Amino acid sequence: MKRPVVLTTWCLGICGLAVLATLYVFSVAPGVPTADDMLPLGLLIVLTAGGVAFPIEVAPKIKIGVGSTAIFAALLLFGVAAAVVVTVLGMVLAYTIRPGHNSTLARLFNIATLVLGVIAAGGGMTLISGSPLLTSAIGVREIVALVVGAGLFVLTNSLLVAVAADLKLGQPLLRHYLLDQREKAPHTGSLLLLGALAALVGAGQPWAILLVAIPMAMVALSLRQTAQIRRQTCQALEQLADVVDLRDPYTADHSRRVAKYTEALCHELGLSRAETDIIVRAARVHDIGKLGMSSAIVSEARPLFLAELTEMRRHPVIGANIVSRFSDFRAGAAIVLHHHERWDGTGYPDGLSGEKIPLGARVIAVCDTFDAMTSDRPYRSALPASAALAEIACCAGSQFDPRIAEAFLRLHGYPVAPLPVRQPRSVQVG
Ligand SMILES: [Fe+2]
Repeated sequence: MKRPVVLTTWCLGICGLAVLATLYVFSVAPGVPTADDMLPLGLLIVLTAGGVAFPIEVAPKIKIGVGSTAIFAALLLFGVAAAVVVTVLGMVLAYTIRPGHNSTLARLFNIATLVLGVIAAGGGMTLISGSPLLTSAIGVREIVALVVGAGLFVLTNSLLVAVAADLKLGQPLLRHYLLDQREKAPHTGSLLLLGALAALVGAGQPWAILLVAIPMAMVALSLRQTAQIRRQTCQALEQLADVVDLRDPYTADHSRRVAKYTEALCHELGLSRAETDIIVRAARVHDIGKLGMSSAIVSEARPLFLAELTEMRRHPVIGANIVSRFSDFRAGAAIVLHHHERWDGTGYPDGLSGEKIPLGARVIAVCDTFDAMTSDRPYRSALPASAALAEIACCAGSQFDPRIAEAFLRLHGYPVAPLPVRQPRSVQVG
């Protein structure tokens, strides 16, 4: 079956499951709200809608919605049936406020995953403590139920979404999921804890649920500011990488181009979005270690003397040290460190060979070399793309990972089968 058909079947299946589970919940525990419940339930619906409609970017391309705080509070205050109603109406209101570009099926799927998360959390808590409702008498059993409920809520929802992402993009599910959750988990955990605190306050006085809007807004503001600082830090580091390129008129914009080639190559290789982000970010700053080199060496037109070459070859180590100090680049530090390793083990700084070289470093090595060859240098003019591609083909299996070199050639329309007969050789890059 084709991937879009499988994805549609998966989404429809989850929607159907959510409807069946909801019918079951309402048949065993309808939980009809009293007149006093209407106001806090209405507030929770509005808070859910606001949180979903205006998600926060906690890391590049990773967004979370603070609506889960209100949904979790609804579960703890009013039970599963009411929390399902809050989820559905909150999500419908969110899509009304901010329609976005999602298809109707995608919207229904998003609502269904949250509904199933709520029902799983409620079911788990009922099994442990007899009910998801939070009372003032909290013992160890209730705390365990709370933690398990929060875990089930996040796990159910995020895993169902991760499977859909896997079916849509054809990405390795577990790795994609773990990388995404590493960024999201601390924030999601804090939001659910906030929901539990709101429920504790609201359990005594439903009006007090209004108070949850204040910490929710503060958390949202704080997350937004943190994301903004992270974004600015990334931009500052990327600008430093541009400064390195600008020190030599022949390498201006080199890092930007390498990052562009790298992104296209990652897509060609079918890497996950999270993995691609790490590699592209590393590509953008791969030569930042040249900041520690003297301008005389970086922009020297003649071939370097041995001592200068030794100095120049320190730039991956210096670069890895620099980027490892920044959380958004830390995952790519090993890639920066090894971007001059060679598939046959004759590269630097550690002489790694084959798959011992990080995948991202093997990807960048091809793109870095291609850009170096197709750019003017003081000692030679830029090679035409066709000649540079022929060089890449010749060095596949010696300098480059053959699978990655082949993907790069395929991406640029170079005939990859059969590859030219390979002679031992290498291409110099900066
Ligand atoms: Fe380099």
